[in-house]
Amino acid sequence: MTTTSAPSLLSIRNLTVGFWQEGGQLSPALKGISLEVPANRTVALVGESGSGKSVTAMSILQLLPAGAAYIDPHSEILLEGRNLLRESAASLRRVRGKDIAMVFQEPMSSLNPVFSVGDQIAETLMLHASLTRRAARQRVLALLAEVGLPEPEKKARAYPHQLSGGQQQRVMIAMAIACEPKLLIADEPTTALDVTIQQQILQLLADLQKKRGMSVLFITHDPGVVGEFADDVVVMRHGEIREARSRRFSAHRRMPTPRRCWRVGHHWSAARRGWR
Ligand SMILES: Nc1ncnc2c1ncn2[C@@H]1O[C@H](COP(=O)(O)OP(=O)(O)OP(=O)(O)O)[C@@H](O)[C@H]1O
Ligand SMILES: [Mg+2]
Repeated sequence: MTTTSAPSLLSIRNLTVGFWQEGGQLSPALKGISLEVPANRTVALVGESGSGKSVTAMSILQLLPAGAAYIDPHSEILLEGRNLLRESAASLRRVRGKDIAMVFQEPMSSLNPVFSVGDQIAETLMLHASLTRRAARQRVLALLAEVGLPEPEKKARAYPHQLSGGQQQRVMIAMAIACEPKLLIADEPTTALDVTIQQQILQLLADLQKKRGMSVLFITHDPGVVGEFADDVVVMRHGEIREARSRRFSAHRRMPTPRRCWRVGHHWSAARRGWR
């Protein structure tokens, strides 16, 4: 589905994903979804719990559990025209490190508790940007300053548990942008934070998106969160795209479903006030 004429960085076409059940049946999670993330834009993927948002994100990076998930072979995930579903494991590792980065809800589950945050970001830079340790350490300080952490030298030496939840999420964002990805996927990055910190992290993501000209796929179950920040809003429900709207051009499309004429339960304006 295209909501505007902006060129697409990422095109998901007809993505169908299921999970094998104990009896051998396939339980559908994504039912042929299509969505576009244009270059230099923020797209919000919004939907209630269980609607398939994280499965979409994990499919893009192919992080779904190999034995449990089934991706229909007619599905396409095109990054600048390359179908990621056909790439080799080695090429996908490069995509994950460089082209597409991801920030999750719980920074502590992604950070290693036994290394300082500076060393963890430096490691990413040495691995994916081939920097020397000395150059990587310098770059870490610039990145920590860029994500708004005061006293970058001190913060670089800190271990994850010595930082607040908001600071940990800033570290994760620094790590994600370290290799200058074209696309940043943020899966509920603010859900675990209190409201004031949520707003600050959202503002940071918006600032970084503009400054770096990257695209952001922002995933949330809370439509109220994305109103100010997203260029395009895509609403998911039960593994289908139910509504897609570009805020920039006021284009608005409701998606047909296999059951012919399905009426959208929530307009975006109503959805912003909550799901009910
Ligand atoms: N590893 C898995 N094995 C089996 N089923 C799964 C697995 N991961 C997700 N599912 C199922 O896929 C569907 C979509 O899940 P998903 O995690 O994408 O929801 P979500 O929209 O991200 O929800 P939330 O807002 O709660 O994070 C759900 O029915 C879920 O139970
Ligand atoms: Mg999720």
